[in-house]
Amino acid sequence: MEKREEKSIARKIPVLNQLDFLKWLPSLYKNPLKTIVKLLAKNGDVVNFKLSNDKGLIIVNHPDYIQHILKTNQENYSRKRVMLPLHDFLGDGLFASEGKLWEQQHLLLKPTFHDKFVKDYFHVISEETKVLIEEWKSNSKKNIACDVEFDVNILMLRILLKTQLSSAIKVDYREIIRCLRLILKNSSYKDQNIKMAKDKIRKLFLMKKISDAPIKEALQSLENIVANIRATAIENPESVGLALQTLEKAKEDGLISDKQVRDEIMNFIFAGFDTTASALTWSLYCYAKNGFWSNQIKHEIDQVLQNKVPEMENISEMPHTKMFIQEAMRLYPPVWSLLRLSHQNDEINGYHFPKDSLVMICIYALHRHPEFWDQPELFNPERFLPENMKGKAFVYIPFGQGKRACVGKPLAMAELQIIFPLLLQYFKFELIAKKEPVINADVIIKPQKPLMMKLTSIK
Ligand code: HEM
Repeated sequence: MEKREEKSIARKIPVLNQLDFLKWLPSLYKNPLKTIVKLLAKNGDVVNFKLSNDKGLIIVNHPDYIQHILKTNQENYSRKRVMLPLHDFLGDGLFASEGKLWEQQHLLLKPTFHDKFVKDYFHVISEETKVLIEEWKSNSKKNIACDVEFDVNILMLRILLKTQLSSAIKVDYREIIRCLRLILKNSSYKDQNIKMAKDKIRKLFLMKKISDAPIKEALQSLENIVANIRATAIENPESVGLALQTLEKAKEDGLISDKQVRDEIMNFIFAGFDTTASALTWSLYCYAKNGFWSNQIKHEIDQVLQNKVPEMENISEMPHTKMFIQEAMRLYPPVWSLLRLSHQNDEINGYHFPKDSLVMICIYALHRHPEFWDQPELFNPERFLPENMKGKAFVYIPFGQGKRACVGKPLAMAELQIIFPLLLQYFKFELIAKKEPVINADVIIKPQKPLMMKLTSIK
């Protein structure tokens, strides 16, 4: 590192100054993701947004930079400090921790997501999906449109809690979603900046700070729910999921604290259902929109499943369905950006990245980079034929990359490859709104307004 500082021949990262930035601001607030894509197309694969006199926000949009940040020199780029606004919620769980503690927790929990355990969840996944199918069938009969995004969120939350924590739990799923949305919105990059600006103005006029009581109340409500889940698990030992079993055992053995068990549960709630729900929602959206490819996978599903519930072995027999989901996650990556803070000065592709830089990898923009994706806005699942994906490990990264990549990927992909074909066997999906939905990009990609669909029962 010292040597790099001495040389200092590295170029300065191009800066989008405050004046330029102000020009883009209205469109950034209205449609942030599309605007970032345009900004990067105009300014290149690395650009620094200087919002004030600080070091700014550096956005990188090329696999070489991304490989360096997430893998080659990952020790220099930490997630922990950028997660600080969520510290009261996530504590030191797997997503939020670093160093020795992360290693220990990763070692403990990663095996619980192995494929060999995921197959044990097939039954719960299909049973829970059938509950939603019945609800949608009833709506369909009464000609009631469905809020697909919301319904799918509840489904994925039920599956997560029942498979990982306890199948006996009875909790208010809507309350969990309400609290999580409030906490995530408050911690988003956009809301944090608005809050900082408002606080500055209030200070100037000696006004009182904005109360954070609603966030505290939401946190307390989640604390109560988690305590309740743990109590239910103790009362019903046969119901306990592998993840919670592993955590409680590690606590009994004196390897981790009681607080660590709580933190890991909160981290699962944070990372484990909003993401899969987003992937499923956008897959259904793409299905409703792309007749040609939808017919292709419907044919594949009908041929393979013959009206049955998918089993583990069926997954590999439906490659086009998997490619369809992958393409939906290319255009709508549930986690649209990764943020890191650098510890030391660094140099990437000849550019100087100063110590304490806030670096963003915009997955949404990377998945549309015209150098790597032909006609990037076009929906074409065949991009994911194995021969087309060679050398794209850092170009397609919906689950991240490097050692901090998603541990839940096997569970997430299995859930998607069971639920999506299961739903398609029962319904035809039609979008009510003709206009393309505007995306809300707080933390997870969602439609800004409810994604209403007319479902017609076909079974
Ligand atoms: C389609 C679904 C999912 C997507 C797109 C997704 C995406 C991601 C991404 C991009 C990261 C890395 C974040 C970063 O580098 O800053 C991540 C990490 C993580 N995900 Fe997922 N995820 C999904 C499902 C799940 C599920 C089902 C679980 C658990 C039940 C889960 C648990 C985690 C955890 C604990 C981490 C942190 C890993 C670590 O730092 O060691 N995810 N996920």
